[in-house]
Amino acid sequence: MSRDGVSIIPLPSAQRVQPGDDLTALLLTTLERHGVAPVDGDVVCVASKVVSLAEGALVDLPPGDPRAARRELARQQAAEVVAEAPWVLITRTVHGFVAANGGIDASNVGGDGALLLPRDPDASAAALRAGLAAATGRGIGVVITDTFGRPWRRGQTEVALGVAGLPALRDERGGVDLDGRPLEVTEAALADAVAAAADLVRRKDTGTPFVLVRGLDTAGLPDGTGADLIRPLSEDLFATGGPTAAERAVARRRTVRRFAPGVAVPAHVLAAAVAAAGTAPAPHGTRPWRFLRLRHATRHRLLDAMATRWRADLLGDGVAEEVIARRLARSDAVLRTAPELLLPGVRLDEAHHYPDERRRRAERDLFVLSGGAALQNLQVVLAAHGFGTAWISSTAFCPDTVRDVLALPAAFEPLGMVAVGAPATPPPPRGPLAADGLLADV
Ligand SMILES: Cc1cc2nc3c(=O)[nH]c(=O)nc-3n(C[C@H](O)[C@H](O)[C@H](O)COP(=O)(O)O)c2cc1C
Repeated sequence: MSRDGVSIIPLPSAQRVQPGDDLTALLLTTLERHGVAPVDGDVVCVASKVVSLAEGALVDLPPGDPRAARRELARQQAAEVVAEAPWVLITRTVHGFVAANGGIDASNVGGDGALLLPRDPDASAAALRAGLAAATGRGIGVVITDTFGRPWRRGQTEVALGVAGLPALRDERGGVDLDGRPLEVTEAALADAVAAAADLVRRKDTGTPFVLVRGLDTAGLPDGTGADLIRPLSEDLFATGGPTAAERAVARRRTVRRFAPGVAVPAHVLAAAVAAAGTAPAPHGTRPWRFLRLRHATRHRLLDAMATRWRADLLGDGVAEEVIARRLARSDAVLRTAPELLLPGVRLDEAHHYPDERRRRAERDLFVLSGGAALQNLQVVLAAHGFGTAWISSTAFCPDTVRDVLALPAAFEPLGMVAVGAPATPPPPRGPLAADGLLADV
């Protein structure tokens, strides 16, 4: 920063940028119209949107609901899906940026399409810098900016995607603090700070593609690029999770009994969860688990038959009619309305046969236990994708009814039902995990 501090000058422009437009020319006329004569060391922040528009990066959205379509487009364009939940898709773009919906923009793009990020923001920044130098004889830095969220912090800020003519990072490692202690990790994200500063004078509802930042003191620091700000994957501690992530993923599973209406469980999420279920340990190296996805008519046919059976059981126990009605209604509220209903089971065909009841029972229990492990995996992975599950006992109490209605073999042992959907309200977080009372030395 110079002694006079830093000035941040918005440079609004009413011109709608079209594919093929010359951004250097537009920037020069905008500066002139605002009576701003650039000087050496000025930095121009350029909204990535106008760079993308000039590049002609507007694409048609896939058909359907626009939000889902934008998400689908982000998936198609992504190098990798980093995280996914019903309300957000975070991807790593081919450039290496990690952003919600891969930074694909649908607001203020002048139509129904969506705008991809600039192809090469550093190259665009360098070209603008060169164009400005040729026209003005001044050394002007350029930062191409976009709006990104940050992990663990609310709100979005402007960040630097492309940088030319100024440092991207200010490396303070090797220096000392006021107390003379060595600075070991400080690397200031200078270009991100410049991008965020520019946003102080820009509003989404005003066309302000350019902002001039004057008075930065970057003397003696080498120029950088936007790519300098991307943490190499080899340093990414979060990609592989680690033990803490595994504990959190497990703790995140909560029984959810009320689902958001109209939010479908995507087929690829269900497939990922069932694939995880299939990694459960099982006796004799078998793969005994099955997940039957109940279609609408099948679901109601099965639930009707189970209700008749349950009613008969409860009447036999002497339970009053109104109590039975209440219990059935409570169960229906989950099982008949859940966006997906799975019937999990284990196949006992490959269980070993024993002549005595003690060992036959142990063998059956082991297969059922393996089913429990698979179901836990399924639920944990669904929870990691932001979907809630309720594992309901139901079918375990009427296996014959289930096998009859669905024409299943006698070796199919039902393990309850699993209702799946987006939670109607976020499930409450668990308290701290503790092994107290569960682990004993003997
Ligand atoms: C084998 C099994 C059967 C269950 N059956 C039911 C059920 O019939 N109805 C129900 O509301 N919850 C059922 N649950 C869910 C438990 O009530 C729930 O796991 C427990 O309250 C702990 O809450 P959490 O899952 O959020 O940790 C069942 C859970 C398991 C493991």
